[in-house]
Amino acid sequence: MDFSLSEEQLMIQQAAKDFAQSELMPGVIERDDSQTFPDELVRKMGELGFMGMMVNEKYGGSGLDTQAYVLAMEELSKVDASASVMVSVNNSLVCWGLETYGSEEQKQKYLTRLASGEIIGAFCLSEPEAGSDATSQKTTAIDKGDHYLLNGTKNWITNGGRAEVFLVIAQTHADKGHHGINALIVEKGTPGFEIGPKENKLGIRGSDTHSLLFNDVIVPKENRIGADGFGFKFAMKTLAGGRIGIAAQALGIAAGAYELALQYSKQRKAFGTEISNHQAIAFKLADMHTKIQAARLLVYQAASDKDNGNDYTLSGAMAKLYASDVAMETTVEAVQIHGGNGFVKDYHVERLMRDAKITQIYEGTSEIQKIVISRSIIKD
Ligand code: CAA
Repeated sequence: MDFSLSEEQLMIQQAAKDFAQSELMPGVIERDDSQTFPDELVRKMGELGFMGMMVNEKYGGSGLDTQAYVLAMEELSKVDASASVMVSVNNSLVCWGLETYGSEEQKQKYLTRLASGEIIGAFCLSEPEAGSDATSQKTTAIDKGDHYLLNGTKNWITNGGRAEVFLVIAQTHADKGHHGINALIVEKGTPGFEIGPKENKLGIRGSDTHSLLFNDVIVPKENRIGADGFGFKFAMKTLAGGRIGIAAQALGIAAGAYELALQYSKQRKAFGTEISNHQAIAFKLADMHTKIQAARLLVYQAASDKDNGNDYTLSGAMAKLYASDVAMETTVEAVQIHGGNGFVKDYHVERLMRDAKITQIYEGTSEIQKIVISRSIIKD
């Protein structure tokens, strides 16, 4: 078993680290406060190739592997998880879904612009009454011959206000259950498509999250991804890879908080010595370091499964389940190590703690990951 990274992977890791420190760190607290993220920063992430990392170069992507992608996700997430969720959704859900299952026309029309970061995309599965229970789609896409008529509401959509292209999951044949669901590409500005107000969130506050409303929206038939009724499988297969990206995000949040806590503990003095010399703090650091490395290995294993053509549903779910728990646990401990300073925004760890929580919720809650994992191990 070889854990070493290639020259190219190390280069991507360093590029993401440099970008995070020089471009994402300045203003990260203000962006969290104001719930904003400048277009300029998104454009820069696109220019550096972070928005279509795994997309083939012929479609404007960087042509990298999943391992390089998770390395970049970890580094970006150490500093700004609002930036990294934009990267994750655009890469693993939107670009990967289109490249793997889209038609050549769809790739030429949408993927090339999404992969270069010229525009960004959103993945629209969740609804007011269909979050974890994703087969219960209430949004309808009625077949009208040459087009679908789309009606319904989607909730908690990442990139909702910023995206130009939306992959929308909707029910076409209610009598067929999840076999009657379709995935449609919907462009911003299509008549009847309205973007609801921005959610005021606990964490990843720089990332914009919206409800979407569809009222008799006409979507051409050529915008359906895959065969009629493939939409639910499309969503599940896409999310299986998406969960590796979110696992890497959780890992980065944990590692970012740990690095800050380690540094702080070597400077802050109490009872006549640096607090890292107190066993109460040193043992916390030991636990954090060990758990982060275990999470990292699970993330790498899932990435390696995807890169080697193995099934990654189980390894991706395990990586997300574990890394998100480690993110939550580690960030809480990082605040504790910082004491009163940890409760103050300037020290970053309270923001990382708030950001960590969503990794246990989106792209399948921890409870959903346990369903996926337990079904997989019982079936084998
Ligand atoms: N790959 C391929 N097919 C899959 C699959 C996978 N990983 N997982 C399930 N399927 C298929 C099943 O084989 C089945 O198809 P068949 O009937 O043809 O065999 C079909 O999907 C339905 O599967 P189940 O019978 O297992 O369905 P279920 O109702 O028991 O639920 C579930 C399955 C795994 C719980 C699923 O509903 C689920 O993943 N829920 C969570 C949804 C989720 O992750 N939402 C996140 C929203 S997106 C987001 O957060 C993005 C963002 O903005 C950050």
